[in-house]
Amino acid sequence: MNPADVSAAVRDHVRSVSLGEATGHDWWHVSRVAGLSAKICEAEGGDPLRVELTALLHDVFDEKFYSGDAETALSGLVDQLGVRSALPDEVWDGIIYDILHLGFKGGFDQTPLSLEGQIVQDADRLDAIGAIGIARAFAYGGAKGRELYNPDEGVVTVTTAAEYRTGSRHTVNHFSEKLLLLRDRMNTDTAREIAQRRHRFMEEYLAEFFAEWEDAVSYNR
Ligand code: ADP
Ligand code: NI
Repeated sequence: MNPADVSAAVRDHVRSVSLGEATGHDWWHVSRVAGLSAKICEAEGGDPLRVELTALLHDVFDEKFYSGDAETALSGLVDQLGVRSALPDEVWDGIIYDILHLGFKGGFDQTPLSLEGQIVQDADRLDAIGAIGIARAFAYGGAKGRELYNPDEGVVTVTTAAEYRTGSRHTVNHFSEKLLLLRDRMNTDTAREIAQRRHRFMEEYLAEFFAEWEDAVSYNR
C-alpha cells in the first residue's frame, strides 16, 4: 500500500464518521488540523505521512464522546481500515501514543511527544485560538447550554483538572482557563509565530466584548 492510499483510506473513514459533529470535533476541525500540521511540518521537518495520520486520527476516539479505551479502539481501527502493514508496528504505536497524550484534559499533558506528535499538538492548539477558536468556544458552550458570560460569576481561575471537568462556567471563562494560555505552550517556532496574531486577536475581541457589555449595562437603573 503506498502512502497516498493509506492517507486516503484514513481520511475517507474519518470524514465519514465526523461530518456533522457539533461540539467542535467535526470533520472541518480535523481538516484544518491536518492542513496546519502539514504547513508546520514543511517548516519544521518530521515525516509528512506520520503527521497527516496523527492529525486525521487525533479526535476520532476523544474522551469527550468516546467512553471506551481509546488505545484499543485506535489499534482496532488501523486493522479495520487494512492499513496496518503499510507502516512498521512501532510507527503505529508511536502515532497512537502521541494521540493519547496530545490533548488538553483540563491541564497540559507534559508527556514528551515525537516531533510529529508535537506538530499535531501545535496545530490542534492553534485551531482552538484566534477567530476560529473563538467560534469553537461559543459553539461548544452553546452545545452544553452555557451562558456566553455571566458578570455575577466573574472570571474564575481554574487550577485543577477536576475543577475544569466539573465546571459549567460561562464560555468567556474558557479564555482564561485555556485559550489565552495556548500561545506560550507551542512546541515549534512555526506555530509560535502563527499563534502571536491569533492571540492578539482574542485579546482585542475580549476587550471589545467587555466594552460593549459595560456600555450596555451602564444604562440600567
Ligand atoms: P481539541 O479538539 O483541540 O482537542 P477540546 O476537545 O479540549 O480540544 O475542545 C474542543 C473545542 O471546544 C476547542 O475549541 C475548545 O477550546 C472548546 N472547548 C473545550 N472546553 C470548552 C469549554 N469549557 N468552554 C468552551 N469551549 C470549550
Ligand atoms: Ni482536536
